[in-house]
Amino acid sequence: MKRTVELDIESAEHARNWKSTARDLQETCPMAWSTTHGGFWVATRYRDILRLAQENDTFTAAKTFDPDTGIVEGGTSLPPMPVARLVPAETENPEWEGFRGLLNPRLSPKAVELLRSRAEGFAAGLIDRVIETGRMDIVDDYTNPLTAMVTLAVLGIPPEEWRTFADPLHALTSLRKSDPAYPHAIELAQIMDKRIEEEIDRRTANPGDDLISYLLNSKIDGQALRREDIHQMIFNVIAGGVDTTASLTANVILHLQENPDHRRRLIEDRTLIPKAREEFVRYFSPLHGTVRTAKTGASVAGQNVSAGDRIYLLLASANRDPEIFEDPDEVVLDRCPNRHIGFGAGMHRCVGSFLARMMFETMLNEFLDRIPEYEVLAEGADRYPSISPINGWVRAPISFPPGTRRAAATNGVSEGDQGHSPGDR
Ligand code: HEM
Repeated sequence: MKRTVELDIESAEHARNWKSTARDLQETCPMAWSTTHGGFWVATRYRDILRLAQENDTFTAAKTFDPDTGIVEGGTSLPPMPVARLVPAETENPEWEGFRGLLNPRLSPKAVELLRSRAEGFAAGLIDRVIETGRMDIVDDYTNPLTAMVTLAVLGIPPEEWRTFADPLHALTSLRKSDPAYPHAIELAQIMDKRIEEEIDRRTANPGDDLISYLLNSKIDGQALRREDIHQMIFNVIAGGVDTTASLTANVILHLQENPDHRRRLIEDRTLIPKAREEFVRYFSPLHGTVRTAKTGASVAGQNVSAGDRIYLLLASANRDPEIFEDPDEVVLDRCPNRHIGFGAGMHRCVGSFLARMMFETMLNEFLDRIPEYEVLAEGADRYPSISPINGWVRAPISFPPGTRRAAATNGVSEGDQGHSPGDR
């Protein structure tokens, strides 16, 4: 029997109650039909979500958007985002294979390792800015700038422009699409689009050893890439690179404040970090969910899905499925095995996972070295108004015993530079 629920994945109620809702659905109706946002299925069990992510001939992430009519079909957001498709995230084969084949070597473990010392320099420089004051905002002073600066470094865009790229993305992913501020987020994204166009021109005239130049000089089946696809690949790398890892790290720093025993264990034994990192990706599922559209009729968890139906893959619920994970609601720092799907599954599995891991480790190590003791300030931390798609934080102010700057750390983070705001341009 089709069970109907009124699950609004963008609502504050969902942000508060998603765990109990997901557990109830897992037990009673793992494929439920939500009547919100035009109607969609919500999948909550690990094994069904894995199948939905892996059977790409039946369940597609592909998207089309017509800027003249504003009509969006398919894609990985619910409700749909009225912007061009992400490449490769919202493409399907045969196109996807070519795009992904180009990105893989540029984001491989070896390629990412070459960026580590630069990331460490950014992390040290960002902490230097605040260390003597005894106060910082984990999000605005640390996790947002670092992830954006490293991602821009991959692309060859000046890192001090991080706000131009980070602010639109945080607004686009954190606000409900019905929020009165959402149209402004779209305007900011258009400013970001303009900057991407300028960077494509700059790299066309003057190529370097960066991802944009590489894409401009690449071919798929003997053909140069279309400019709009290069643009959307750059957009996808920024979208993937900036918000997810920032959210993961902010969640973890807040968790470690509430769980001093975990903080102590990680400070004393850094070899725990790789396992703990995977556990945090499982537990917080920074990309809370993604979306597929059925291309043909199919039966999933006993429900008849029709061609054209939209399906929300609640990754956070899969990652807390008691059939797969013992004590799923506990953080077990050395959990092993840990078959989480926080980075997705199937062909669209995160191409940036190595970069994400490196940025997370860099931020956490520097933070634990320099700010081992801290308190969240009384005004408290604010969650994103909507945790779908990203389970992130707007702000998380903390205080700590002031420390000293690292003499050597200038590393790309200039004095007093708070980044350019898109509105400044
Ligand atoms: C903790 C951090 C991250 C998490 C949790 C995460 C999560 C995910 C997930 C779940 C998917 C699959 C989405 C789907 O199936 O619809 C995905 C895809 C993707 N991610 Fe990440 N991501 C992270 C960091 C990054 C970073 C740093 C980058 C930067 C390059 C990135 C770029 C991408 C791209 C381009 C895709 C699309 C891949 C494809 O379609 O082939 N992600 N990510």
